[in-house]
Amino acid sequence: MKHLIDPTDLSIEEIAEIIAVAEDIIANRDKYSDICRGKKLATLFYEPSTRTRLSFTAAMMELGGNVLGFADAKSSSVSKGETVQDTVRVINCFADIIAMRHKVEGAPLAATEVSRTPIINAGDGSHSHPTQTMTDLLTIKRELGTLNNLTIGLVGDLKYGRTVHSLIKAMSRYQNTKFILIAPPELALPDYIKHDVCDRYSIPYREVDNIESVIGEVDVLYMTRVQQERFTDLDEYERVKDCFVLDAAKMRGAKEHMAVLHPLPRVNEIAIDVDNDSRAAYFRQVENGKFVRMALILKLLEWQNDSERKFDHGGSDLGCKCPNKLCISNLEPVRKRFESVDGIIRCVYCESQAE
Ligand code: CP
Repeated sequence: MKHLIDPTDLSIEEIAEIIAVAEDIIANRDKYSDICRGKKLATLFYEPSTRTRLSFTAAMMELGGNVLGFADAKSSSVSKGETVQDTVRVINCFADIIAMRHKVEGAPLAATEVSRTPIINAGDGSHSHPTQTMTDLLTIKRELGTLNNLTIGLVGDLKYGRTVHSLIKAMSRYQNTKFILIAPPELALPDYIKHDVCDRYSIPYREVDNIESVIGEVDVLYMTRVQQERFTDLDEYERVKDCFVLDAAKMRGAKEHMAVLHPLPRVNEIAIDVDNDSRAAYFRQVENGKFVRMALILKLLEWQNDSERKFDHGGSDLGCKCPNKLCISNLEPVRKRFESVDGIIRCVYCESQAE
């Protein structure tokens, strides 16, 4: 069984296969219009979403399949205390594949422990968002023609921005990637990404405190929203919320062939005077999300019974405790899973360093 919980669950060959199918779907829409007839996708969204949930819904409809699920956990038996794993056991009786978004980190991975159908992580807390990453990779490929030899500027909330964490993990596997991290100290990239991904794979990165000084170097400028909903201290949110704003004046310093991406929603971080710039790719990126999710649904259903396709996040109870209050291991009765990475013990569900 193959699930998609983290971008590294897919090899770069598998990512290339999914991107190739997405590009074929774009070129030959009719060929795919009935290919999932009789199949059902369940969208279990415990946290708000516009793009991810509706693009999954549109994707399955355009494949000729059906969709069921909930957009708000309050309208499901979760509100009566049902656990993630019990909910998934139930949905397995109704659907062939499940896309889950949850505010609790590691919830989709916990779902894989009991599921008889593929699970797709549609975003778990501040941790990971691999289908946004697939969207970003297809967009970069379509905008710039390659995923190699790129300098990527990541701007804004690099601490809580799960799309950034997943994109760094994915892009670190392509040739000659460089990152420029543009964030205030309060929103800096978590150490586990810097050390376990960038340092481990010798990916060059540097941290700067403004867009203007580096915009001329980047091939991709990846803007992000400051994630108000993740802050425990709202005064801190007020201090950093408008830390970096991209506008038409700043775009004058950028390369002629570069792409501005944003997972959206935006708040203030991209001025509307950028929207008509041909390098502003963020609304094209949204549509790519539907095509790549169509391809992902197809490939995960195809790979479901392929014993060669491995899925294993490993880990065991090492007598440790996860310090993250928003980790599934502290909120629901799941087994403890820890593993040692370069001598540091991390929780497998959320990647926090164990106590
Ligand atoms: N990019 C993204 O995840 O958007 P939604 O929160 O609207 O799904």
